[in-house]
Amino acid sequence: MLKQEQTRLLKGLLNHLDAKTNVDAGGIIKAPAETYTSKERFDLEWDSFFQDYPQIIGMSGDLAEPNSFITIEDFGPPIIATRDADGKFKAFANVCSHRGAQIETEKKGLKSKFSCPFHGWTFDNQGSLVGYPKSDHFGKIDKDCYGLTELPCLEKYGFLWVHPKADGKIDLKNLLGDKLEKEFAAWDFDKLVLSNEEEYKTDMNWKLAIDTFGETYHFSVLHKDSLFQSFHGNCQMFDSFERNGRLILCKRDIDEMRKLPEEDWNITTGTLPVYYLFPNIIFMPTPEGAFLVKEYPLENSPHKSISKISFYFYPEAIEMADKMGVSPETGQNPLEELYSAFGSVIRDEDYVVAASSHKGLKSGNIDFLTFGRNEPALHHYHNTYREALGLQKLPIIES
Ligand code: FES
Ligand SMILES: [Fe+2]
Repeated sequence: MLKQEQTRLLKGLLNHLDAKTNVDAGGIIKAPAETYTSKERFDLEWDSFFQDYPQIIGMSGDLAEPNSFITIEDFGPPIIATRDADGKFKAFANVCSHRGAQIETEKKGLKSKFSCPFHGWTFDNQGSLVGYPKSDHFGKIDKDCYGLTELPCLEKYGFLWVHPKADGKIDLKNLLGDKLEKEFAAWDFDKLVLSNEEEYKTDMNWKLAIDTFGETYHFSVLHKDSLFQSFHGNCQMFDSFERNGRLILCKRDIDEMRKLPEEDWNITTGTLPVYYLFPNIIFMPTPEGAFLVKEYPLENSPHKSISKISFYFYPEAIEMADKMGVSPETGQNPLEELYSAFGSVIRDEDYVVAASSHKGLKSGNIDFLTFGRNEPALHHYHNTYREALGLQKLPIIES
């Protein structure tokens, strides 16, 4: 993040702390229960946001080496993403041009060629059909017409985007906007190394998982024995960038940081930035690396979802943790302790109450969820979500 912006945000938080104030969305909004429970709404979201919208599938560190690959089916069609021998990122439908089987079934690995498990047709990691067995028996085909279907993809600022449709477009200017592009260019997310991945399946609408990252109003209650120990609750900054948002959560470390000269202030020392990347990504840079949360609906249902959380660290942090070794109490090194603690807060605290909210919504005994004036990220997310679906903005209720 640019230094000037870091200072502005840190000073904003310090002002809130001193004045005992918080960001103010100007009022309260109410999101109707159908946002989370309607199958009709869900179908609209699935088509608009998961079938026809550029998807962040991971970070550059997910394809760390030449000839690495990953396969995904998170938003429907089977996809294979590759990095070729020259380091170029590509994405294809993981669909054999012979009879449609998935050419690769492993989740990730290192391969320059993929041999389909059905009849052994072989493709390289640039999508070309390079051979098929018993060609004299099978008959002559034009191999150039039998490559894998290539999907639009883009690697920039350390993120990997894929469009699920072969004729889709990834327009970064439109997706991020100039301001966020400049901000991302000032981080080093392309250096992040993938260190751990977790998945949590929960009985809740996928957006309830997104909502839980959107405010710190709940810290002193739900997280009183965990996050609240290291964060000032109910104190944040918020900015929006096109459809995206950025919350700045206030760590208690800011209390020591403020005693230093301003040039020594750092945004990840005093805060936890939380980027909302529309429609389904939460991304949090830390001093050691970053956490990427991808939310997906499951089983074509508004009532089930999966969170896929990837933990990345910078090489220097990994080296340092290796030197420090494992703690006798936890049996983990400092980075392992960090992602275990984060994972358990999300899984055992946030998602437990989010599933509880979902049960409440599904019961039909609550008609809407209410977002307070101290929850501007949720105002922005829900109104952006509605705008993207052609629905009316939720009006501010005077308070
Ligand atoms: S379906 Fe792939 S080789 Fe036949
Ligand atoms: Fe939380």
